[in-house]
Amino acid sequence: MKIELKKPTMEDKDSIKAVCNAVDRTYLSERMPDPYTDESAEWWINMIAENDGKTGLWRLIMADGKHVGNISVELGQDVYRKDGEIGYLLLTEYWSKGIMTDAARQMVKLAFEKLDIIRITGLYYEPNLASGRVLEKIGFQNEGKKINGVVKGGKVYNLCITGLLKENFIGK
Ligand SMILES: CC(C)(COP(=O)(O)OP(=O)(O)OC[C@H]1O[C@@H](n2cnc3c(N)ncnc32)[C@H](O)[C@@H]1OP(=O)(O)O)[C@@H](O)C(=O)NCCC(=O)NCCS
Repeated sequence: MKIELKKPTMEDKDSIKAVCNAVDRTYLSERMPDPYTDESAEWWINMIAENDGKTGLWRLIMADGKHVGNISVELGQDVYRKDGEIGYLLLTEYWSKGIMTDAARQMVKLAFEKLDIIRITGLYYEPNLASGRVLEKIGFQNEGKKINGVVKGGKVYNLCITGLLKENFIGK
């Protein structure tokens, strides 16, 4: 499967809405609107047009030309401004095919090229082993965890913290 990253435009509104409504949210934060409406997609596309390359990078994950997920690296603020946080989601039927490892490797490369950052942080809830594995495969190092750092859907999770330094990224 050919995995490519695409900057979203208004033409992608319908697929963005479909992907965001279908994705498994078990281990995602509650920041993404639920339900995800036309207005949610329009807001997101406009936000990207304004901020892409400045406060972060946001891309659609395309598998053989089909939109199957989203990925981003967002800059911290204030004293965290040289640290980007990676986030991603993928439609369930496309899991365990290596898609996110490929997409995240491309995204990390792009982020180190385009953003003025010295590291990227990857955060995941401890039971989300697949996400932890994706980060590990790209070279993110375990940096510890916040015990009971996350409350989601009536459950409490430890928040695992991983990081990749620019000088250690070997996917260049
Ligand atoms: C987490 C997620 C991005 C993984 O994407 P993916 O394309 O399936 O990941 P990949 O196929 O590239 O790699 C997954 C790795 O995890 C492993 N894995 C999958 N499920 C696992 C499980 N339950 N336990 C342990 N390892 C697991 C796979 O074997 C693979 O490792 P390997 O290549 O060494 O065999 C995807 O499941 C997802 O979008 N989930 C919903 C949203 C989400 O949780 N986002 C992340 C928030 S931090």
